Amino acid sequence: MCGIVGYVGNNDAAPVLLHGLAKLEYRGYDSAGICVRQNNLEPVIVKAEGKLKNLIDKTDSGKSLVGTSGIGHTRWATHGNPTVENAHPHHSDDYNVIGVHNGIIENYQELKDKLLRNGYTFYSETDTEVIIKLIDYYCKKYKKGPIDAINKAMVRARGSYALAIMCKNYPDQIWFAKKGSPLIVAKGNDGCYLASDVPAILKYTKNVYYPEDYECGVITKDSIKFYDLNGDELKNKKSVLIELDADSADKGNYPHFMIKEIEEQPEVIQKTLNYYLKNDVIDLSSTGLTDDFLANIRNIYIYACGSAYHTGVVAQYIMEEISGVNVRVELASEYKYREYSQRPQSLVIAISQSGETKDTHESVLKAKERNIPTLSICNVQKSTISRSSDYNMYTYAGLEIAVATTKAYSCQLINLYLLAIKLGRLNGTINDDLYNELISDLKRIPSLVKEIIEEKDQIQRIAQNLVPMKDVFFIGRGLDYTICLEGALKLKEITYINANAYAAGELKHGTISLIDEHVGVIALDTQSKLYEKTKSNMVEVKARNGKVLAVTNYGNYDVDSASNDQIYVPKINEYLTPSLAIISLQMLAYYASIAKGINPDKPRNLAKSVTVE
Ligand code: F6R
Repeated sequence: MCGIVGYVGNNDAAPVLLHGLAKLEYRGYDSAGICVRQNNLEPVIVKAEGKLKNLIDKTDSGKSLVGTSGIGHTRWATHGNPTVENAHPHHSDDYNVIGVHNGIIENYQELKDKLLRNGYTFYSETDTEVIIKLIDYYCKKYKKGPIDAINKAMVRARGSYALAIMCKNYPDQIWFAKKGSPLIVAKGNDGCYLASDVPAILKYTKNVYYPEDYECGVITKDSIKFYDLNGDELKNKKSVLIELDADSADKGNYPHFMIKEIEEQPEVIQKTLNYYLKNDVIDLSSTGLTDDFLANIRNIYIYACGSAYHTGVVAQYIMEEISGVNVRVELASEYKYREYSQRPQSLVIAISQSGETKDTHESVLKAKERNIPTLSICNVQKSTISRSSDYNMYTYAGLEIAVATTKAYSCQLINLYLLAIKLGRLNGTINDDLYNELISDLKRIPSLVKEIIEEKDQIQRIAQNLVPMKDVFFIGRGLDYTICLEGALKLKEITYINANAYAAGELKHGTISLIDEHVGVIALDTQSKLYEKTKSNMVEVKARNGKVLAVTNYGNYDVDSASNDQIYVPKINEYLTPSLAIISLQMLAYYASIAKGINPDKPRNLAKSVTVE
């Protein structure tokens, strides 16, 4: 969603801010702005609607703004349209306080009323203008400096925020505060930085600090200070070395991040496996989970959103079959507002690429309130969700930039397979033969994924057939249905084709009335015990002139008679087929998106990390 960058240093701030904002573009936004200041001179604010390029053009790539300190922001509209008036930075009328903000101030109306009563005027529809003016109000009322004013505002504001603030009487200093929204602070050779996400500052430094909720602080060109809510300085903050390369935030020779990330899958799946599979034994010691703890778990509750939820559905099907535990998977946004008794001997698993998704994070908090142990499967280390969880089983997909997740999804599946097998082994529900087969086939996944990627020309050809379609249904049974959920999401988010997943057995209970020559049906049929049943469903669709694309295993060539086109994936232990079938569906969506002239990296209205409800 929104992106924040701040800089104080030896160099001109504007190019640093614009570079940082460009690296955060993937998070999704619809307007942008910066404020730059040179020592005691007046600050200059420039904002533009639409793409960052408009701001870059307006400022001559930052060259028109002189000053070595500044803040920048890309805004994903929540309160009010994406206009210049609503774009950040916002400021008090006398420019005493200028700031940018990520998150949502839930009680902004109440605070606004208070400020209106105290003579403030508002020019935008945003909650940000309210929090900035609230800080200004406390600065002027108590005259105790920015830390005191920011802390007082933090006590009054409900909701989530990461704030970067410039104050008139404190040139060459940028103040920050955090609650519930991501924020990092870092020191480089040429100054200090703050940002909502690591890619913005990777070019300058890999040593970053993570402020905790209700902490605030200040950067100058050569120092970073942190304070708690009482205004006491926190002197023992430790920095963390980020393992990412600056190159990972670049497309290299690829036309889009999405295809780069699809093609990285063999490597990152291998990397994730290497972390947890040692000499064919599943070793979760780095996660903090012990065998004794896991052996005691009888119930697993999985909470996640979007694609991460879909990996949870795969896990539910597999874990319940092979590990002897009860599994319930639920959308985090639903769980949050529902009450049901959770059984003893339970573990909550939160799955999230970004580790910042608000709904998923709140599920973790709710589980903690109920004293249920929490395990997070996140891709971003030190993210909000991972820091709130008792145990962390990271995925090692590396930086994922394309809005539609691919490689993080695949790594989440790997972690969930490993957990399922581990639980099955501890509970005695997986015998030696099955264990050996699963482990040896898990190790084959990277090379088999590579084989599928090498078939991209054929998938690109088939993807052309999707271009004229308005509706595509994904059908499948059992594990194939779980893959349909993700295949349909991929297709709809980057091609804008209405794509829906149905359990194939449900077709006759209503959906079949929609089938005609204009509808495409993608039938997943990789599970041998269900093969004939799903094939019959394909025949029924074809009989009603629907166009059927079958996705099945090599060897199932009689599927030809039931379908118009076919994609074959290699054979593997069938519990693991989702890892292979999904690669074809990711590429299908990618090439259909390209054929429709859409930029798959930045689909309309979507944001990479959803930090609001
Ligand atoms: C779809 C997609 C989203 C995310 C969802 C959760 O391609 O990327 O559906 O899966 O927004 O995000 P995380 O995993 O960051 O919690």
